Amino acid sequence: MRFVKKDILDIESLEPHEISMILDTAQGMKEISERPVKKVPTLRGKTIVLFFQEPSTRTKLSFDIAAKRLSADSISLSKSSSSIVKGETLIDTARNLEAMNPDIIVLRHSSSGAAHLIAKRVNASVINAGDGIHAHPSQALLDMMSVREIKGEIKGLKIAIIGDIAHSRVARSDITGFSKMGAEVFICAPGTMIPMGIEKLGCTISPDIETCVKGADIIMMLRIQKERQDNILFPTEREYAQLFGLNMARLNLAKKDVIVMHPGPMNRGVEISSEIADAECSLILEQVTNGVALRMALFYLVAGGGRNAGSN
Ligand code: CP
Repeated sequence: MRFVKKDILDIESLEPHEISMILDTAQGMKEISERPVKKVPTLRGKTIVLFFQEPSTRTKLSFDIAAKRLSADSISLSKSSSSIVKGETLIDTARNLEAMNPDIIVLRHSSSGAAHLIAKRVNASVINAGDGIHAHPSQALLDMMSVREIKGEIKGLKIAIIGDIAHSRVARSDITGFSKMGAEVFICAPGTMIPMGIEKLGCTISPDIETCVKGADIIMMLRIQKERQDNILFPTEREYAQLFGLNMARLNLAKKDVIVMHPGPMNRGVEISSEIADAECSLILEQVTNGVALRMALFYLVAGGGRNAGSN
């Protein structure tokens, strides 16, 4: 099977066999990070630009570490250190990056569609590291990798996603990805945080958090994205925690071997209690570990590794 995608822009454009190939490749990459010398020569001579126009801890660092573990040269550019602050457009910025002949551009941007826009204008592969409220494909892929690793397969699982669905690119990519891979996805949020037509991505809206988590194999909690909300969408954080926060009583409604996930950053005491965030059933830090392997796999595959299987 060959991997022929130039760009990774969203989960919609990936076929289930391509998702499986990415997850298999990432699983193979994971062992490299456990070696005493965490580096292989696979992408020596390749140049990767990490262009992050929004803050990031996990995504930016793990893409950077992934590039270095594969021996690629990675260069970081932020909004405040770029000529965007002098009025240069995103397209002109991308064309100037292209003039320096990078192999891969990783873009995080506050506007939905930004990664698609530059992918059409540059020869380099573009990986979307999160665009507005639209998509965060590498997060969804690492979430699928983490679930598949612990549960054996995704098909048939009940996945509950709870939180600010309306402003969450992670929610959209996770709903699409998990439903594509055969899971049953249920969501729950205040009415003001459920976007119109979200069911079309492949999920069912639960009337309350208790119904949503009942019998769940996986519970995914999301933070409230205040930075993307124009108006206050809930009365107080205290009330939100009472109605939509994950606590022990609600966790006990799920399957006995339930796994709790969160893409981070967490707001402890709001969407998730500290007791659960740090409990044995929490996969939150393993998600971060898998993020490095998953992003190594994306670099390897878009750089042509999947077209020359066996020649790594
Ligand atoms: N999950 C995630 O995207 O985290 P960061 O914003 O820290 O990258």
